[in-house]
Amino acid sequence: MTGTKVLCHVDDLEEGASKGFLENDAGHDLFFVVKKEGELYAWRNACPHVDGAPMAWRRDAYMDAKKIHVTCHAHGALFEAKTGLCIQGPCLGQSLEKVPVQISETGEVSVSLADIN
Ligand code: FES
Repeated sequence: MTGTKVLCHVDDLEEGASKGFLENDAGHDLFFVVKKEGELYAWRNACPHVDGAPMAWRRDAYMDAKKIHVTCHAHGALFEAKTGLCIQGPCLGQSLEKVPVQISETGEVSVSLADIN
């Protein structure tokens, strides 16, 4: 795929919220965006513990209950929302794969389709 896909507006996500985008063939989000301290961070929906396992337990649920860390609900790994580093769980020390997103002057969040394939 080529081109750019507009995902959402920065204000669509509340602090500590997460949202998944673009489904793969299995119906899982390709990646998700989290808002942490006002900034957006995007990570591929692929846990480093089990070769790319999807991480949410329900639609858009990528954060822990306190909305502090990204979590993989398969085996409970916790990741820093800003760096993608696993700080607790079976993939300790491994990292999520970053997805580069762009934010326009008007706050539109987009991704280059070339970056997610
Ligand atoms: S697959 Fe994510 S913690 Fe095991």
